[in-house]
Amino acid sequence: MSELSGQVAIVTGGSSGIGAASVELLAQAGATVIATDIQPRTGGTGRFVHHDVTSEEAWKALLADVLGREGRLDILVNNAGVSGGWGTVESTTVEQWRQVEAINSEGVFLGCKYAIEGMKVTGAGKPESKGSIVNVSSIAALIGSAGPAAYSASKGAVRLLSKSVALHCAEKKYGIRCNSVHPGGIDTPIFNPLWQAMGHEKGKEMIGSHHPIGRMGEPEEIGEMILWLASDRSRFVTGAEFTSDGGVTAGLMRRSGFAS
Ligand SMILES: NC(=O)c1ccc[n+]([C@@H]2O[C@H](COP(=O)([O-])OP(=O)(O)OC[C@H]3O[C@@H](n4cnc5c(N)ncnc54)[C@H](O)[C@@H]3O)[C@@H](O)[C@H]2O)c1
Repeated sequence: MSELSGQVAIVTGGSSGIGAASVELLAQAGATVIATDIQPRTGGTGRFVHHDVTSEEAWKALLADVLGREGRLDILVNNAGVSGGWGTVESTTVEQWRQVEAINSEGVFLGCKYAIEGMKVTGAGKPESKGSIVNVSSIAALIGSAGPAAYSASKGAVRLLSKSVALHCAEKKYGIRCNSVHPGGIDTPIFNPLWQAMGHEKGKEMIGSHHPIGRMGEPEEIGEMILWLASDRSRFVTGAEFTSDGGVTAGLMRRSGFAS
């Protein structure tokens, strides 16, 4: 029997990049997967539902749809996100700030809130409950940089919200775990503006050179981590943060000049 067979998963931002890879890996592991997004999904496994993570009404409707059709919810991957243009504190407008926080931070809050409600229907407090929420944050939540001011703030919020959710669910004995994932540079359409400016291969090489391992990551490499956190193999893990970044947050590289 497949590892996740009988389990139901929602992946937000499931039409592209890390979300699309996660949909495939969860489905391969046997889960019934609902991929949600504001842009249509072309091809791929799983049922697609159009869903804007910033809308509380849309979250209520999504949970009603999933519980109505599938009868349960076991896994939520809060993955949908935007870069917001990588502006600094000076160049970012209030409108840009609010848009980034609404999608990257408030969208994850709403996802956790309604997923817990949905997971409680079928699993709350029972030993066999396997509720798992995986929130996609970023290394921008772990180290600062001048560039993405709104993005960094939104991902920092996701990191600590995940711990708050984990502790709340543990205290309530809901049997629901919550963890955050912190990717480094992953080759996905989130970098489309850069690919357009300098070409995909050149851009990929440039970003890859900032990673000690010497390359960008692939969406599946984050999907594998998400799959592990979603599955019962990580059953003792909650409130934790997992980095997959080719060594970026490990420290300074020798070629930075600090050690030779
Ligand atoms: N690619 C990277 O280098 C990287 C690094 C760290 C973290 N992340 C995070 O990984 C997640 C996935 O990003 P990706 O790199 O796969 O980018 P992507 O652009 O390929 O995918 C993001 C998806 O989110 C969807 N989305 C945007 N706004 C939405 C909304 N309001 N409601 C529902 N869906 C919405 C988009 O339509 C898109 O399909 C994001 O949260 C991103 O911040 C990415």
